[in-house]
Amino acid sequence: MKLAAAVMACAVSFAGTAMAQQGSPENVEVQAAAKEAGLEFKDSRYRNGDDQPTPVVTRISKVDWATWQGFRRYHDACHVCHGPNALGSTFAPSLADSLKTMDYETFYGTVVGGRVREAGGTTAVMPAFGDKNIMCYLDDIYTYIKARSLNAEGKGGMPPGPSEWS
Ligand code: HEC
Repeated sequence: MKLAAAVMACAVSFAGTAMAQQGSPENVEVQAAAKEAGLEFKDSRYRNGDDQPTPVVTRISKVDWATWQGFRRYHDACHVCHGPNALGSTFAPSLADSLKTMDYETFYGTVVGGRVREAGGTTAVMPAFGDKNIMCYLDDIYTYIKARSLNAEGKGGMPPGPSEWS
């Protein structure tokens, strides 16, 4: 599936990308963890065998650049409804739980298309996000939430709170 961000001409220059690629001394731990997990660094982020954005979190909670960026962006645009640390609120689901089962394409489609659901007299509204401030960083946001969902599943991942970008 050709995804929107790829064709949206996101003029993103990742300050961290060059460093992540070139192997600055600071992120050797992240690089080693990525290698151990069999991930490939491609198009400015780590990816799994299906070419999908994938977080890297070391045992001492150092994360790759994309995951760290996603943490920031999530807490800018999504946390007001979905709660700090992707843990959910009284009116919007915990995305850390959602991504235990939701695939990348569904996540992407939900954010781009939005969703409205009538439930017992109340209307749940997930707004559609089309603007560049979100779209250009949606892979980062996905990566961060995926890191949180791995943690919710007890598979390591990213614990609550900010982690350090190595
Ligand atoms: C104005 C509040 C609001 C904001 C802001 C918001 N959401 Fe949502 N979102 C919701 C609600 C409410 C639902 C549940 C809709 C439903 O019940 O169908 C939802 C559902 C979702 C789902 C589907 C979850 C599932 O388990 O089916 C995803 C994925 C999602 N939001 C991602 C995001 C992302 C990423 C952001 C930030 C870019 C964001 N949302 C910002 C309110 C919001």
